[in-house]
Amino acid sequence: MSIADELRIQTGTDRALAARFPQGFLWGAATASYQIEGAVNEDGRGVSIWDTFAATPGKVFQGDNGSVAANHYHQMAEDVDLMAQLGLGAYRFSIAWPRIQPDGRGAVIAAGLDFYERLVDTLLAKGIQPFATLYHWDLPQQLEDEGGWLKRETAYAFADYAELVAKRLGDRVAGWITINEPWCIAYLGYGIGIHAPGKRDRQGCVEAGHHVMLAHGLALPRIRAYVNASAKVGITLNFSPAYPADERPETQRDMALADDFGNRWFTDPLFKGHYPEHLFEALGVNSPTIEEGDMALISAPIDFLGVNNYSRVVVRGLEKPPLADACHIVAPIPGACYTEMGWEIFPQGLTDILVWLHQEYAVPALYVTENGAAFVDTWDGNGHVSDPRRVDYLRDHIEALTKALEQGVALEGYFVWSLMDNFEWAEGYSKRFGVVYIDYATQQRIVKDSGHWYADFIREYQQTQMEKRA
Ligand code: FCB
Repeated sequence: MSIADELRIQTGTDRALAARFPQGFLWGAATASYQIEGAVNEDGRGVSIWDTFAATPGKVFQGDNGSVAANHYHQMAEDVDLMAQLGLGAYRFSIAWPRIQPDGRGAVIAAGLDFYERLVDTLLAKGIQPFATLYHWDLPQQLEDEGGWLKRETAYAFADYAELVAKRLGDRVAGWITINEPWCIAYLGYGIGIHAPGKRDRQGCVEAGHHVMLAHGLALPRIRAYVNASAKVGITLNFSPAYPADERPETQRDMALADDFGNRWFTDPLFKGHYPEHLFEALGVNSPTIEEGDMALISAPIDFLGVNNYSRVVVRGLEKPPLADACHIVAPIPGACYTEMGWEIFPQGLTDILVWLHQEYAVPALYVTENGAAFVDTWDGNGHVSDPRRVDYLRDHIEALTKALEQGVALEGYFVWSLMDNFEWAEGYSKRFGVVYIDYATQQRIVKDSGHWYADFIREYQQTQMEKRA
């Protein structure tokens, strides 16, 4: 820990911040299966679209892939020990569909379910609440070969898979997230092809988006049938709040386009039962095929919404209305600070998006299921990783949460992305998001300064809670 950080803790700044959170607030960390597990050829796991994509030359930075990743499949117990050391109250992980059903349907691999059951039991033994994401992008390749998310059938296969996982773990998992980031699945995966499966098909992109939402809707009742009464079931969306670069009417117009595309595409169907009115036209495509009953399934009540937020966009209006995904995004913004991903650091965006969700949709409960930053970390080769910018990022974003809470937002928890460094999709291992450093050569884990800071902060929170009760 840097001297500056120590001083700040000593002077009680973080304690005062911690004291502003309500009782029962969950402090967690998040990961995803393909990004950390490795062991892709073990215990009968099937091939996922990310194995295929990463093996395709030119798709992932330096040809990196998830075959070893952070070796979590083999170091799970050690990783849970680390979480306990950090004092985490919850851990969000994802389940690799191809570990459970190698072909995406039919035959179930017992070893796959056993692994996640062991993980859940290990977490519970340490008093850490498991939050399971059922789909964080590793679609079984067999399903992709049949058309993947372009096909309605994939949604039905997902619901079957979701049910069989819920049957096994439903009595123990505290939070269920059906799908992670439909926007990324549809747009990055099927629209512009920078994520698996690497398709470039504008119409297909919105069809895929609809099928992903249908998968969520179909899975909801199937999961609910098996989970215990206190378990919560929801979905996680990514948000990038839009701000105007100036006050011209063109800017207001384009900002609304960027907002429909970046934020409302999936919240409107979830909470209002329809897609944003002009979205598909503004994307230059037809409405996806929507069958009778789909929107009712998609908009069935959820217990919580998971919010992933890293940054914002600033829009400057163009003379003629652009396609919704081609608005002029100002970058770099003069005077702004950026992470290694090139994402602007803008904590107020997190407050704003939470308040907007509360006001626009009256969302019953919210969790920030991802927030964090990639920076260049310096490991001293020993026990110390200095990452002062991540400490600042986390503190400032946690402070941003208190501003949402003060405005009545039903925010119940925060998960930092990520527990540990991992395979950052198309960026491979070049971007480190962890509060725990991974030395990939030895698979050694080293808690970064930010991890120590987060652990101290959680401890401060617990102490202030005890004092309030006393
Ligand atoms: C999100 C993903 C997550 C991680 C972060 C940086 O879009 O859900 O897996 O890669 O971005």
